[in-house]
Formats: sequence, C-alpha cells, structure tokens
Amino acid sequence: MKVLCLSGSARAASFNSALLAVAAADLASRDIDVVRVAPAELTALPLMDQDLEAASGLPEQARALKAAFHKADGVVLACPEYNGSVTPLLKNVIDWVSRPDEALPAPACFQRRPMALLAASPGALGGLRGLRHMREILGNLSAMVVPRQFALAKAGDAFDAQGALRDSKNQEAVAGVIDDLLYWMEAIHGKG
Ligand SMILES: Cc1cc2nc3c(=O)[nH]c(=O)nc-3n(C[C@H](O)[C@H](O)[C@H](O)COP(=O)(O)O)c2cc1C
Repeated sequence: MKVLCLSGSARAASFNSALLAVAAADLASRDIDVVRVAPAELTALPLMDQDLEAASGLPEQARALKAAFHKADGVVLACPEYNGSVTPLLKNVIDWVSRPDEALPAPACFQRRPMALLAASPGALGGLRGLRHMREILGNLSAMVVPRQFALAKAGDAFDAQGALRDSKNQEAVAGVIDDLLYWMEAIHGKG
C-alpha cells in the first residue's frame, strides 16, 4: 500500500511539515510505502489560471501531482491554517489536481480515495478551523476524508530537537489518525 504525504507549507521550519514527518515515520513503521511530496514541487506550480490551462493544458508539475495522487492508495495532508482557512499553496494544489486531462478524468484523483487530515499551529486551536474547510473541499470532490483528524496546538513547544513529539498523547493522536486511514484504505482497496 502506498500513501502520499503532502504539507501545505513550504516554510523551511514548518510545523506542519514536522507533524507530517511524524505521520510518515508512523506509516513507514507499519510497512507502508510513503511518498513525500517536496515543497518545491508545490511552489513550482503556477497559480491556477484557466487561460494558461486553455492555451497549454495542465502544467508538467500539475500532471506529475495528479499521477502521484492517482497512484496512492491513501493521502495524508498536513494543513496549516491561514485566517481560519486553508493555505493558498494547498488550495492551488487541489485546484490543479481536480482538473481533467486526457490522462486522468477530473474525479479520478479524489473519488473514494481515503485522505487523512493533520494540522499544526502555534495557536491554541492547532489549525482546527482550517480543517473544517479542507474537509468540505475534499468532500465536494468525493474524497473519503477519514473521520479522525488531529490539530496540534502550541506547535512551537511540541517537538524536541530530533523532531519527535514531546507529549506521547500527541504521538498517539497521530497514530489514531493513521489507524483510521489504513482502515479505510483496506476497506476500499483491499490489502496488498
Ligand atoms: C496569513 C497568515 C494567517 C494566519 N492565520 C492563522 C489562523 O487563522 N490560525 C492559526 O492558528 N494560525 C494562523 N497563522 C499562523 C500559522 O499557524 C503559523 O504561521 C504556522 O507556523 C504556519 O504553519 P507552518 O509552521 O507549517 O508553516 C497565520 C499565518 C499567516 C502567515
């Protein structure tokens, strides 16, 4: 089984990328094939532009991301919260990946695909409000967004120097989200 892991922040010291790394390590410990999308692959995407799309089709970076989503049995998204909602970086990825082309019709990358949501913020809510919006956006694309999610509050104090979560309860919360993701991956795709 293969899981695509993607962070909605390209910031070098991103808390969301750090939380995603914890989730990726948990997945790897369960013999899941982890595919990490590098932030540079996301920042290289042009801003969604229908004139550009009409003139030259999907950009190469968008086609590569579509293929990565399509090949994955499941997806983990680490979603920073900007002004109570999703980051433009992540929304831009979703907008491009949602577009049809000759290789993959529009819903193919999202429909029935199990997706798990994480968030991290220095704030007290951990980015929880942004996850509500993300869940709605992905639901409209017919993704199977797993019920359990985790928003890491006070992220500035949450990691040790090695990038591990200091509080075992937070580690368990990440593991719980991964449990849910794997449950739905197996239910939808079967073991393999
Ligand atoms: C434009 C902007 C808006 C933000 N709005 C929120 C917000 O609504 N809620 C919140 O918890 N943090 C908010 N923040 C702070 C981010 O949570 C913080 O910068 C966080 O570190 C971003 O995630 P990252 O560490 O993965 O890059 C905002 C930051 C920016 C730049």
